[in-house]
Amino acid sequence: MAGGSAAAAPERETWTSSTGFILAAVGSAVGLGNIWRFPGVAYESGGGAFLIPYLVALLTAGIPILFLDYAIGHRYRGAAPLSYRRMARPAEALGWFQIVLSFVIAVYYAAVIAWSLSYFVFAFDLRWGEDTAVFFTGEYLQVGDPEVSTTLVPGVAVPLVLVWVVVLAIIALGVSRGVQRVNVVFIPLLVVAFVGLVARALTLPGAADGLNALFTPDWAALADPGVWIAAYSQIFFSLSIAFGIMVTYASYQRRRANMTSSGLVVAFANSSFEILAGIGVFATLGFLAHQQASTVDQLEGLSGPILSFVTFPAVISEMPGGNLFGAVFFGALVLAGFTSIISILLGVAASVSEKFGLAHRTASIVVCGVCAVISIGLFSTTSGLIALDTVDQWANNVGIVVSAIVMTVLVAWVFRTAPVLRAHLNRVSTFQVGRVWYVLVGGLAPVLLTYMLVERVRTLLTEGYEGYPTWYLALFGWGAIALVVVGALILTLAPWRDRDDTDFHAWPELEEERR
Ligand code: PHE
Repeated sequence: MAGGSAAAAPERETWTSSTGFILAAVGSAVGLGNIWRFPGVAYESGGGAFLIPYLVALLTAGIPILFLDYAIGHRYRGAAPLSYRRMARPAEALGWFQIVLSFVIAVYYAAVIAWSLSYFVFAFDLRWGEDTAVFFTGEYLQVGDPEVSTTLVPGVAVPLVLVWVVVLAIIALGVSRGVQRVNVVFIPLLVVAFVGLVARALTLPGAADGLNALFTPDWAALADPGVWIAAYSQIFFSLSIAFGIMVTYASYQRRRANMTSSGLVVAFANSSFEILAGIGVFATLGFLAHQQASTVDQLEGLSGPILSFVTFPAVISEMPGGNLFGAVFFGALVLAGFTSIISILLGVAASVSEKFGLAHRTASIVVCGVCAVISIGLFSTTSGLIALDTVDQWANNVGIVVSAIVMTVLVAWVFRTAPVLRAHLNRVSTFQVGRVWYVLVGGLAPVLLTYMLVERVRTLLTEGYEGYPTWYLALFGWGAIALVVVGALILTLAPWRDRDDTDFHAWPELEEERR
């Protein structure tokens, strides 16, 4: 059936079913971003009113760009650099920009999974004690000043090594035997664990006050551009779009695959999980406020790493049956984190393997090895937390936004491949993409994103970030972005090994079927 054209190239591995693909894509999307990032961002950005920019961002940029990622990967059947190159040669550079950016994210993402793993163990005897803030930054992370430190913290280094060994093993096993299998087991487990957690949280005294704190709208927030920026960044990070990762996942889909319908399932599953996490986290915080005879808005540490690793442990200690709740919560973070980080490393390994003609296993070992060494070197030292916070800020508010702007502009205006991509999606899928997609991808998204980017860069340049020293921001913030650009250029200019792509045709079989 595959005909002569397919015989020229070795068969590409595929997901073994649509469910396998959907679970893997949900696994990539549902991650630390949902549990650890969303609740805090929503609370800080207008509470209930945040749901409006959030939904607008989902519908105007999230789903359209998810479709774009899927279309490129499925049509051109390569990891991001190869797919973009097949679309238009110079676009390869964008693929590498996205892949190197993902690599940077994986470096610190692994660290948060390692912390969660430690805290999963700590939950059994509530090892964080009375003062959870001192425990987290002092005893556990041993945070020092913003500096370049080389003192390894064994309590972090050991779980981090463990995380990397497991990630490498999964990636080396490949798409269907490694990544798909893990997701098929982890994602249902995660859903069960999380639903249990939320159900328990909702029965705690004070839960309703927590939900009120999260959902009471602060309408004035809608006038603040920062809130809209936060909503778009959250959607990009959370759906794993414009990172080249969904391009790569889609490239392993079979020929006849209902791409847009899968995309809708993934997007709504991700947002549902995110809102569920918001409910669970805030119900729990309502309980904390209740215990302290205070109100949620007087609690501190309601965002980022502090929310999960300082505030949550404090609540867990006060809760009857807290050990179990804590173990399930940190266990859920570990599961969610793993299914996301493997998507990133599969994307990077596949890109490297295609470009340099390496066997999948060899590429996996090289990529995971390098990433592990950097990750352990940077994040299990005493300056880990601050470096992480800085790199996260730049990667997600600058790097990914640049990537999305360049991507939409190239497709819509420079290479004008949007009609081909839309036709491709509509040919394979049941949910048909209308013309409005052109308006969103070619108009609204790049305009809004450019505005956001300018706004954010201006703030970062004039106000700095979190009061960290300027040299430090230059090194870990702007430096991270510079590294991504330079890395992308070098990888683009490097010669392709063993690949003659001049006669690549996007799905010749599909074209034939139409005759
Ligand atoms: N979407 C993941 C999360 O919500 C993070 C991620 C970003 C995964 C980029 C892959 C690529 O945590």
